[in-house]
Amino acid sequence: FSLKSFNTFGIEAKAKNFVAVHSLDELKTVLAEHAAEPKFILGGGSNMLLTQDIEALVIHIDLKGKRIVKEDDNFVWVESMAGENWHEFVLWTIDQNFGGLENMSLIPGNVGTTPVQNIGAYGTEIKDTFVSCDAMKIDDQTMRTFSKEDCRFGYRESIFKQEAKNQYIITSVVFKLTKHNHKINTSYGDITKELALQNVTDPSLKDVSNAVIAIRQSKLPDPKVLGNSGSFFKNPVISRSHFEKVQAQFPEIKFFEVSPTEVKVPAGWLIEQAGYKGFRKGDAGVHKNQALVLVNYGSATGQDILALSREVQQAVFDKYSIAIEAEVNVI
Ligand code: EPU
Repeated sequence: FSLKSFNTFGIEAKAKNFVAVHSLDELKTVLAEHAAEPKFILGGGSNMLLTQDIEALVIHIDLKGKRIVKEDDNFVWVESMAGENWHEFVLWTIDQNFGGLENMSLIPGNVGTTPVQNIGAYGTEIKDTFVSCDAMKIDDQTMRTFSKEDCRFGYRESIFKQEAKNQYIITSVVFKLTKHNHKINTSYGDITKELALQNVTDPSLKDVSNAVIAIRQSKLPDPKVLGNSGSFFKNPVISRSHFEKVQAQFPEIKFFEVSPTEVKVPAGWLIEQAGYKGFRKGDAGVHKNQALVLVNYGSATGQDILALSREVQQAVFDKYSIAIEAEVNVI
């Protein structure tokens, strides 16, 4: 079974067996019936790089549906099933005039995988509106609710990348969104610039969403046109003393303050300065508008992309002594 259309990198890889599940009961049955077999859980396929065929039963989580769980005068609690497309879900919340997710418009992937890496963009992260998620334990099919605290969110981090890794399947997520007095967040410079360009002074949720969409479309490749997984690397967080040494040598270095002892450096900047922006080797490349994104021009293999990612890591390390780490899941 070909997984090419199930990963946004558009990598050709085969699954030994494949099943899509559309309900919790179906998921339970599949897990119980294949208890002894190796299994591979597939959501939107937007944050992984397949470097080999999958010698396992691939279970595609296709649980659909969304509903309002409860509301009070100011907030609404919205639940989405894991298989809903993230961007369509965001647009739906904006249509209902529910605020909180607008800055994360147009992020590829499905709702169920958003907590895994605490997705974020333009000054907001999923953890800012996340209430809880339900998950099924793979080995005994019991359900468990993870609160925000349980998830231990960090920058592109959660318990689902640590102790809970490969143990649970997230089946639904609940967000708490504003009904009015929305906290419009235009702190990210690019949004302010984009809104000014469109002459918007008092932005609505839709205006912010449209600005984010315009920025993303100008910088980030559309996976339907050019295979990619968004940011391939995380922005490295380094110690202030390390940073000061690098800055002494490269005073133009860009950075964000994280804490009194730590500084985050944009990996896109490091990669660009190392000369790799727009670089191409065969069908594997570094995107020309955003160096943090690796792309598949058509027939790159997962191994080609992986080799390129290592070359980029080495070049950045040689120049800046900063190690950049993959954000996508390398399979
Ligand atoms: N930069 C360069 N060259 C590049 C890319 C970036 O010099 O090729 C510089 C920019 O000029 C800017 C800084 O790096 O000064 C930051 O760039 P940008 O605003 O594009 O954001 P980023 O740090 O590169 C992160 C997220 C993106 C998210 C944006 C906006 C990570 C790993 N990536 O990128 O998330 O959309 O911020 O919030 O944190 C993703 O996770 O897939 C993703 C696209």
